[in-house]
Amino acid sequence: MDSHYPISIPKIREKVAKKRNQYANKTLSVFDENLNVKEITNEFSETLVRVDGEIPVDLPVEKGQRFLFISYDQSRFSHGIHKYPAKFFPELPRWLIKKYSKEGDFILEPFMGSATTNIECLLHNRHSVGVDVDPFAKLLAKVKTTPLDKTELEVNNAILLEKITHFQPSLITEEDLPLFPYRDNWFQKDILLELTYIKKQIYALTISQNLKDFYRICLSSIIRAVSNADDNCTRTVVRKKLNKKIEPAFALTKFVENLLVFSNRIEDLAACLTSAKFIISPNSDARHIQYNDNTFDLAVTSPPYCNAVDYPRTHQLELYWLDLANGSLADLKKHHVGTETVSSVDYKNLHLIGEELADTIIKRIYEMDNRRAYICYKYLADMKKNMQEVHRTLKKGGRYVIVVGNNTIRGEIFESWQYLMNIAEQIGYEIETYFGSEIIKHFIKVPREERIDVDWVIVLKK
Ligand SMILES: C[S@@+](CC[C@H](N)C(=O)[O-])C[C@H]1O[C@@H](n2cnc3c(N)ncnc32)[C@H](O)[C@@H]1O
Repeated sequence: MDSHYPISIPKIREKVAKKRNQYANKTLSVFDENLNVKEITNEFSETLVRVDGEIPVDLPVEKGQRFLFISYDQSRFSHGIHKYPAKFFPELPRWLIKKYSKEGDFILEPFMGSATTNIECLLHNRHSVGVDVDPFAKLLAKVKTTPLDKTELEVNNAILLEKITHFQPSLITEEDLPLFPYRDNWFQKDILLELTYIKKQIYALTISQNLKDFYRICLSSIIRAVSNADDNCTRTVVRKKLNKKIEPAFALTKFVENLLVFSNRIEDLAACLTSAKFIISPNSDARHIQYNDNTFDLAVTSPPYCNAVDYPRTHQLELYWLDLANGSLADLKKHHVGTETVSSVDYKNLHLIGEELADTIIKRIYEMDNRRAYICYKYLADMKKNMQEVHRTLKKGGRYVIVVGNNTIRGEIFESWQYLMNIAEQIGYEIETYFGSEIIKHFIKVPREERIDVDWVIVLKK
C-alpha cells in the first residue's frame, strides 16, 4: 500500500464513537424542563426570555416580545447531516408545528432548504410537502428524510471502507478526473485524486438509489472542508490569508468519518419515525405551488433573506461533484427568490411594491444603486406571490408562520419582516402575532456588514 496514505479505520471509528457518547451525555444533562424558561437582560439592557432546549408548547408570547432560544438539537437525528446556510434550529419548527397543528395534519414548507421542518413533521406525525427550486436542496432533503435498509447500509459501508483503505493515487488517471471551471484552483492534486476515487467507488456499487444518494451526500459534505475555499463563509472563495492546511489523506479520512456519523444519524431518525408521509413537490416553486386551494392546515418556513445568500454559488463545488451543474450557474440562480441575477432592462427604472415603508427604502437605495433597488423590489414582489399562493392553498383558519431577518443594503436597514407583515395584511391575512428570536450562533459566517442578528417570527392567519 502507498505509504503516503496511512488511514486507520479503527481510529476513525473510535473518534466517532467517542463524539457520539459525549453528545448523548451533553443532551441528557442540558436542561431541566421546569427551569428552561427564564427572563434575562442582554448586553444592551434589553429584557429577553431565554429558553434552553425544548420550547414549551404553551409558552406565553406577547406581540413584539424578544426571545433567546438556545438549541441543543442541531445535530440530532438527521438534522446534523451536511451544512446548509440559514438552516432552522429544530426546536423552532417543532414548537410551531405542535402549537399550530395536530397529529395527522398536512403541513407545507414552501422554502424547504435542508428539510428541517419536514423532518420534525415526520417525527411528530404530521404529513408534509416540501418545495424548493434548488436541486441540491432537493437531494439533501430526500437523503435526510429517507431511512435506509440496515443490512444494505452495513454491507456496503464495509465494502466502501475496505476500498478506501486500498487507495493509491496511481489508481486514478487523468481521464477519471471531473471537469468543471477552475477545478485546479479549488482543489489540490492529492485531494482531487482522493475525491475522484471515492466517487468512483460509490458509483461502482450495485445498490439502491436511496443508498447511492446517501453516499453522494456523504461525499458532498466534505467537499468544502477539503477544498482550498473558506469553509466558514457562504461565498465560495479562496482566501490566501486563511492558510488552510490540507494534508494528503484528508478527504479519505473526512469521508469515512462523515459516513460513520451520518449512518448513525439516519438510523436514529429511522428509530423515531411515525407513519407520516413526506413529499418533495417535483415541479412547484414557492410562487407557484402545485396544490389545490384549501389543502394545508399549516405552513412554516424561513424564506431566503433579500440579497444575502446566493445558494447556487454557495454550493457550486458540491453541485459540480454531484453532477447537478457543470458550468454556468446563471440558469439555477434565476429561479431563486432573493437573487442578484437581474437584467439591466429591468433595473433601469424605479419599481415600487405598494407598501409605504418598503417603498421609502427602495427609493433611497435607487438613488445610490438602481440595480440593488430592483433586487429589493423583486424580492418583495416574489414574496408577495408566495404569500398569495400559500393563502390560496391554506385551509380557512390555517396559519402561515414566516421566520425572516433584516439586513443592511447599501447602508439602509431593509426590514423584510415589517414589509412582509404589511403586504400580508393587503393580501387578506390577519396578523395573529409576531416576536423576535435572537441569533447567537451562525452555522456559516456571512461578511460582518451583512450579519442578521434577530429573526422575526410572524404568524399570519387565513
Ligand atoms: C433560508 S433557506 C431555508 C432553510 C430551511 N429552513 C432549513 O432549515 O434548511 C431558503 C431556501 O429557499 C429556497 N428557495 C429560493 N427560491 C425559491 C423558490 N422560488 N421556490 C422555492 N424555494 C426557493 C432556497 O433554495 C433555500 O433552500
